Amino acid sequence: LLKIVQYPHPTLRWKSKPLRRVDAELHKIIREMFDAMYEARGVGLAANQVDLPYRLFIVNLTADPAETDQEQVFLNPVLSKPKGQVESEEGCLSLPGLYAEVMRPERITLNAYNLAGQELSADLDGLFARVVQHETDHLDGVLFIDRLSPTKRLATKEVLGEFEAVFDDRRRLGELPDDAAVAARLEELERLRC
Ligand code: NI
Repeated sequence: LLKIVQYPHPTLRWKSKPLRRVDAELHKIIREMFDAMYEARGVGLAANQVDLPYRLFIVNLTADPAETDQEQVFLNPVLSKPKGQVESEEGCLSLPGLYAEVMRPERITLNAYNLAGQELSADLDGLFARVVQHETDHLDGVLFIDRLSPTKRLATKEVLGEFEAVFDDRRRLGELPDDAAVAARLEELERLRC
C-alpha cells in the first residue's frame, strides 16, 4: 500500500513533470492515494506525498470515503488569474500536527485534465481554492511552511527540527534510501509516464 512520506523526505522537494501517459496502473495508484488520504483524514493529496513523481493530485473536500461523488483527480494542473489575498490555517499530511496561517490568493483559475482525459477549467474560491493551491505547490516541490511569514516560520522551527531528527534516525537505521537512490527511482518512474 502507498505510504505518505513526511518532511523532510526529498521527494517532497521534487518538481514533477507533466504526465503523458495514463494507464490502468495509474488508475490503481490513484485509488490507493484516495485510500491513504482518507486514512490520514485529509482533503487533498499530491503524488509526491506518496513518493511518486507524477504531476497530479486528488481532492475530496468532505474527507469522507462514503462521498465518492466528491472525489476529484487533477492531472497536469495549471493555475492562473490569482485574485485577492486571504490568510487561513493550513496543515499537511506530510507534516502531521503542524498548522499555521498561510497567506494566499483568495480566488484562482484552475486548468487541468481529469482521468478520462477531458480538459477542465474552473474559477475557484474558499477552501477549494486553498486546497488546489496547496496541492499544486507540492507538485513544484513547495511546502506550506515555505510560504509562512518570517515570524511564523520561526515559530515552526522546533517542530521542523523534530521531524528532521526522526527522518535522520530512520535513515541511519536504513529504513529510508539515500537522496541518490530516491532520485534514481523517481527518474525511472518519470521515464515511464512523463
Ligand atoms: Ni500538503
